[in-house]
Amino acid sequence: MSDEPEISPEAVHAAVEAALAAIAGAADATALKAARAAHTAEGSPLAQLNARLRDVAPDRKAESGKLVGQARGRVSQALVAREQALDAAETAARLEAERVDITAMPTRARVGARHPISLLQEQIADLFVGMGWEIAEGPELEHEWYNFDALNFDADHPARQMQDTFFVEPTSRHLVMRTHTSPVQVRSMLEREVPIYVLCPGRAYRTDEFDATHLPVFTQFEGLVVDKGITMAHLKGTLDHAARVLFGSEAKTRFRANYFPFTEPSAELDLWHPTFKGGARWIEWGGCGMVNPNVLRAAGIDPEEYSGFAFGMGVERTLMFRSDVQDMRDMAEGDVRFSEQFGMVV
Ligand code: DAH
Repeated sequence: MSDEPEISPEAVHAAVEAALAAIAGAADATALKAARAAHTAEGSPLAQLNARLRDVAPDRKAESGKLVGQARGRVSQALVAREQALDAAETAARLEAERVDITAMPTRARVGARHPISLLQEQIADLFVGMGWEIAEGPELEHEWYNFDALNFDADHPARQMQDTFFVEPTSRHLVMRTHTSPVQVRSMLEREVPIYVLCPGRAYRTDEFDATHLPVFTQFEGLVVDKGITMAHLKGTLDHAARVLFGSEAKTRFRANYFPFTEPSAELDLWHPTFKGGARWIEWGGCGMVNPNVLRAAGIDPEEYSGFAFGMGVERTLMFRSDVQDMRDMAEGDVRFSEQFGMVV
């Protein structure tokens, strides 16, 4: 029991001030917990003042009770407020730390575009597959025998010269970068059973200049049919159909006599269309002819029983006429802005 039953406003005030200072100074939840214990729990100055109320004279009780009650109220309000403020600060800090800036520009990888040569190659393949043909492929590094000998090229044919053909060392191995897709004709005849209807798309290599109308690495598509009773009319009908699918219903083809070692007769193939740049006109599209009996024989096919036709065209040239590309180098440089002009067709 206290021997000083009076509760002085100064003592209450001092206890409150000390409590409020501790609460305000609590920097985090742990510090606030300590302040709560020191200033409100049993043994704290305020708790002691509160306990002393029991001994206050009855006529002072109401006043002292109010004094202490208000003091405790202020302190507990300050505790609640400080707790809320610390909570809010902690939440804000966490939100800031985990902030995602949804307004930032995404670093998206550019999608790119299919190359128009690839697209056109696929379209050409589809056109022939649609007629029931198969796709045949062969190596780009080719044996001279397939590239020249089996195709009936003489030993001294100019195409065999260093200035036209990339020969691969050591030359004793007789390897070349294929100069056309025609060796795939020979491979197809050796690997497949007759009748044969194949389209051979692929790259070819020549020691040409890199200029507006020549690429040292270019793309061809080669066709070969070997069956009984095949005539030049089948060749003409097939090429007219291909021209119309690729260039539109008004396209026409014509043959001009020419020479290729692997066909007899041989023809230069011209293409006509009313909307070609520079007006309706004939342009040279490729070569074709009836498969030379020597080529059939080299592949083990009896020319008395079977006949065939073949043709070969450049894909880059086809793209030039079809899409009015002025400079072939644009097709080799790989600038995506060139490819994007042909659409994003997949
Ligand atoms: N291989 C020839 C060239 O690249 C093109 C060619 C002509 C292919 C006549 C053929 C053909 O299949 O019959 O110049």
